[in-house]
Amino acid sequence: MMKFLASLKSAFLFAGITCVISTFANSDDVSGLYALVKRRMPSHSDAFIFNLSTIAGSDVDTFKMRDASHDEGDGNAKIYIECTTISACARGLYTYVTEFGGVDIWWTGSRLDQLPHKLPIINEPITRSAIVPYRYFFNTVTFDYTTAFYTFDDWSLLLDWLALRSVNLPLAWVGYEHILVEVFREVGLTDAEIAGFLSGPAFQAWNRFGNIQGSWGGDLPTQWIDDQFALQKQIIPRMVELGMTPVLPSFTGFVPRALHNLCPNASIINGSQWSGFPSTYTNDSFLEPFDPLFANMQKSFIDKQIAAYGRVSHIYTLDQYNENDPYSGDIAYLQNVTSATFASLRAADPQAIWLMQGWLFFSDETFWTTERVHAYLGGVPGNDSMIILDLYSEAQPQWERLSSYYGKQWIWCELHDYGGNMGFEGNFVNVTAEPLRALTSPGSSMVGMGLTPEGMEGNEIIYDVLLDQAWSPTAINRTSYVSSWVSRRYYVSDLPSSAVNAWEILGATVYSNRDPSSQATVKSILELAPALSGLVNRTGHHPTLVFYDTNTTIVPALQMLIQAGFESKSLLNIREFKYDLVDVTRQLLANRFITLYETLIITYASNSSSSATIAAASQPLLQLLRDLDELLLADDYFLLANWISAARSFSHGNASYAAFLERNARNQITLWGPTGEINDYASKQWGGLIGGYYMSRWETFVDYLVGTKANGAGYNATTVAKAMLEIGEQWNAQTWGLTVGWETVGDSWSVVQALATKYM
Ligand SMILES: *[C@@H]1O[C@H](CO)[C@@H](O)[C@H](O)[C@H]1NC(C)=O
Ligand SMILES: *[C@@H]1O[C@H](CO)[C@@H](O)[C@H](O)[C@H]1NC(C)=O
Ligand SMILES: *[C@@H]1O[C@H](CO)[C@@H](O)[C@H](O)[C@H]1NC(C)=O
Ligand SMILES: *[C@@H]1O[C@H](CO)[C@@H](O)[C@H](O)[C@H]1NC(C)=O
Ligand SMILES: *[C@@H]1O[C@H](CO)[C@@H](O)[C@H](O)[C@H]1NC(C)=O
Ligand SMILES: *[C@@H]1O[C@H](CO)[C@@H](O)[C@H](O)[C@H]1NC(C)=O
Ligand SMILES: *[C@@H]1O[C@H](CO)[C@@H](O)[C@H](O)[C@H]1NC(C)=O
Ligand SMILES: *[C@@H]1O[C@H](CO)[C@@H](O)[C@H](O)[C@H]1NC(C)=O
Ligand SMILES: *[C@@H]1O[C@H](CO)[C@@H](O)[C@H](O)[C@H]1NC(C)=O
Ligand SMILES: *[C@@H]1O[C@H](CO)[C@@H](O)[C@H](O)[C@H]1NC(C)=O
Ligand SMILES: *[C@@H]1O[C@H](CO)[C@@H](O)[C@H](O)[C@H]1NC(C)=O
Ligand SMILES: *[C@@H]1O[C@H](CO)[C@@H](O)[C@H](O)[C@H]1NC(C)=O
Repeated sequence: MMKFLASLKSAFLFAGITCVISTFANSDDVSGLYALVKRRMPSHSDAFIFNLSTIAGSDVDTFKMRDASHDEGDGNAKIYIECTTISACARGLYTYVTEFGGVDIWWTGSRLDQLPHKLPIINEPITRSAIVPYRYFFNTVTFDYTTAFYTFDDWSLLLDWLALRSVNLPLAWVGYEHILVEVFREVGLTDAEIAGFLSGPAFQAWNRFGNIQGSWGGDLPTQWIDDQFALQKQIIPRMVELGMTPVLPSFTGFVPRALHNLCPNASIINGSQWSGFPSTYTNDSFLEPFDPLFANMQKSFIDKQIAAYGRVSHIYTLDQYNENDPYSGDIAYLQNVTSATFASLRAADPQAIWLMQGWLFFSDETFWTTERVHAYLGGVPGNDSMIILDLYSEAQPQWERLSSYYGKQWIWCELHDYGGNMGFEGNFVNVTAEPLRALTSPGSSMVGMGLTPEGMEGNEIIYDVLLDQAWSPTAINRTSYVSSWVSRRYYVSDLPSSAVNAWEILGATVYSNRDPSSQATVKSILELAPALSGLVNRTGHHPTLVFYDTNTTIVPALQMLIQAGFESKSLLNIREFKYDLVDVTRQLLANRFITLYETLIITYASNSSSSATIAAASQPLLQLLRDLDELLLADDYFLLANWISAARSFSHGNASYAAFLERNARNQITLWGPTGEINDYASKQWGGLIGGYYMSRWETFVDYLVGTKANGAGYNATTVAKAMLEIGEQWNAQTWGLTVGWETVGDSWSVVQALATKYM
């Protein structure tokens, strides 16, 4: 094992990579870790000693952990953790609480306070090293699909989750607009011109990417910009004290249209159209980086940012062509763009490193030929001056096609989830063995491993294992991983083997996806606008193809989870167990819906059908939606109300602002755009959304089928699509009733049992 690690290290040296991470303020101060212990394990607040020091022979993050003193019945056990970086100490702490304490922190909440009162002994000291210098987290769009309406409490939980898993390079987009607006004002743009450019609270990521401009349903309020800036002033110091180097925004070149009139000689071009949006909302104006104004605005932006947050990072996120077409495919032009962009960063911060998402190289592979990518990356001098996120490495890695990004530093990333969709999917082998293969491949310039999910909705195990793999020089064994993961996820003394067996089935099937036509979370067709065709078996970017057999996967896994619930009553008090029970039942119903839909379509198409047979075939389908809504309303993690109330909570009691926020929240998960431009892309299975929205679409669809059969009219797809859009627009315009749906209804354990019996 050590020998293998040594060979990994020499792979780094061979590639000539600097493994040293630039951290700044507080880099020798472990007080953030003591604060974390106090926050999450108050009754053990004195139990850990952290010591930042050099550990002989370690050129990557390393910790050494041992017992400092045992519990002699006085509650005075202490654990000593020595480390080369704060992040390594955090990983040491995580290793202790998970492997010795048996507890963990989850997206659903922290269970670290259940660490045993009498701390378990380590005995043999433990030394471990990361296999990569960087552990990265976030996709630019996670800031909308998941954290758009996060409070600092939500951030605090997520950042502790990241810190303990030793993420040391998180993206930090919150509050971007505050500084951007100041820069825009400085060049003479009016507030109205700026407001016409910025996008709504639930859509800022795509404005930051230069995909969209403007906000439908009202301008972005100053209040929002100010509140997000205040939030970022809490987030950044927290990231730093937890040993992370925030990846900060920079000036990208996307500007309000009016800049063109203000600076008629500036080199400003219209960008391309994005996802069918009308040009008022897209074709963002782009100030070309070789125009001197670009460098001025960059300098101003970065100066202001340093003034706001301090000198906390030299790493900047900057994407210009994420789903945007460059103005020209000319090699010299592309090289010019990057060389000028990078020069602007270095002029503002002499140590600047440019980080970019590499999604474009996959999504627009036809344009981004090896020759163009070579020129584009080649515009940036040196190999250490850039970090490219190989964004979708688990399914569509680009590092091989692009010769390890021609020597530039890059990070192996798991994308996995489109739009915060909720279907089960994962590939254990691809997120364990594959990053090792990339790291050890000849001439590899890979420097990190990370997660770039569009949204975070379930499938947590497949994210955990990747970050654990970043500390394991050999590929993690699925069987043993699943078993220890389940034990700490459920953390009861009488854990029945049936609970582990349930997860072993899921691990071997839905989390061992080998189907190359379905490589991300599977969207359920019930979330799509109903239609006669085109819903089932979609592959690619919006997959609905169910790549496994429900009867031999979800069904037995659910049976075993239910059995576990009967065998251990304490399990039913475990938040994560209840979550998983509902989640697996949700997947069962979502998959059964497909069969009911196909039956309905076949019935409609059959010559012997009548409006009565169609109505009869639709009954079980509509009933399933009612059942699913009931299930989801029984668990407070699956409520539409969470999303909406989180949005409204930023309103400062102003009713029209609350309504604006709510429209943003509703629009993102449904129409996604003023008139359904990327309809249902970010769909969810949430209680209240099924019953209140998907249900009315399916009812309307069924009524239409029954009606056309009765009056002999043929099926008209345009009519159906129009009716669906109307329902969407009505639903978007609603505001939440004051009485229903804020709280859970019913008892999820009994609902799960009833629905399992009915649908298994
Ligand atoms: C921290 O580690 C250094 C080097 O190993 C050692 O000299 C020092 O005493 C340690 N400090 C504490 C508080 O244990
Ligand atoms: C733009 O360029 C023209 C021609 O070179 C020049 O006459 C004009 O003064 C410039 N305008 C500005 C605002 O710089
Ligand atoms: C850019 O878009 C604006 C607004 O749609 C339009 O008026 C202008 O002609 C466009 N410019 C170019 C060069 O296409
Ligand atoms: C928007 O971009 C598309 C190409 O993606 C182009 O055809 C169209 O002319 C652009 N519109 C404007 C107003 O620039
Ligand atoms: C490259 O940038 C320079 C300014 O730095 C500009 O004058 C020139 O036209 C650009 N060349 C191309 C091919 O875009
Ligand atoms: C796993 O990774 C391999 C190699 O990159 C790729 O060919 C395969 O399609 C991936 N499998 C899935 C299910 O994404
Ligand atoms: C960057 O990496 C490539 C590929 O390993 C190598 O050919 C090149 O010399 C490196 N450039 C520098 C400046 O080190
Ligand atoms: C994982 O561990 C199990 C049980 O120890 C073993 O049977 C299996 O062969 C291992 N799998 C791999 C891929 O090494
Ligand atoms: C979808 O795929 C499944 C499995 O390959 C197949 O049985 C079913 O007929 C397909 N349905 C449609 C509508 O293509
Ligand atoms: C799965 O089970 C259901 C319900 O028992 C049954 O109707 C269906 O035929 C089964 N499907 C397959 C592919 O075995
Ligand atoms: C249904 O009727 C149409 C037109 O009368 C005919 O072409 C078709 O073959 C029939 N289909 C079946 C399945 O009987
Ligand atoms: C379908 O309905 C639309 C109006 O919704 C109408 O314009 C179109 O002509 C209809 N198509 C057919 C084939 O009847």
